[in-house]
Amino acid sequence: MRLAVNIDHIATLREARKAREPEPVAAALVAEMAGAQGITVHLRSDRRHIKERDLELLRHAIATKLNVEMAVTSDMARVAQQVRPDQVTLVPERPQELTTEGGLDVVLQAAAVKDFIRQMHEAGIRVSIFLDADADQVRKAKTVGADALEINTGRYAEASESARAAELARIADAARLAARHELEVLAGHGLNYTNVIPIAGIAEIAELNIGHAVIARAAIAGLDRAVRDMVALLGR
Ligand code: PXP
Repeated sequence: MRLAVNIDHIATLREARKAREPEPVAAALVAEMAGAQGITVHLRSDRRHIKERDLELLRHAIATKLNVEMAVTSDMARVAQQVRPDQVTLVPERPQELTTEGGLDVVLQAAAVKDFIRQMHEAGIRVSIFLDADADQVRKAKTVGADALEINTGRYAEASESARAAELARIADAARLAARHELEVLAGHGLNYTNVIPIAGIAEIAELNIGHAVIARAAIAGLDRAVRDMVALLGR
């Protein structure tokens, strides 16, 4: 099971002050040194955290896989063709949302998604689609030419104790169907240190995308060291 770390929230913190730090590239390199096999960022249309500048620097700096989440728009196609990440993940985007709220409806947007994927393939970029665990969506992802899909684990992560097993089964079914269609299977959204193990146990899933929980833990686990460093500096 590979881990790709989503570092959007490093950029969120930087943008809260419109400051120079923390630097997303530094976070990506630390994540790689700690064993992450991929770095994921979401370029939103309002550029509220990650910016083109980050993509350019990440493209040159990281040694693993650069995965850029984006909406199916001509602006995003242009950026992808310029930056050439290893992989693009197509996601839906609603301007006011706090985070991606569900999978892309490939059935509804098949023609636009197919055309977008063709453009990415011409530029040598793999395409994954963020989907809800639904058989029709998985089949459609195959017919529009996706290389991979990322199953949305958000509903599983938010499910009550009693509903969780059913959500897990839906994800496992979708993963099996995708693998039968020779799609690479990824998963992510809302995964954390308490709910990830059952998802990691689904054999067909090759990679998990995790952001919020990792960055949240970094903020708390790293605070002790950061305070000690400042106290030591003041004590000199
Ligand atoms: N996958 C997709 C498509 C996402 O949009 C996000 C959030 O940016 C994630 C995975 C990671 O979710 P989380 O931050 O909850 O780990």
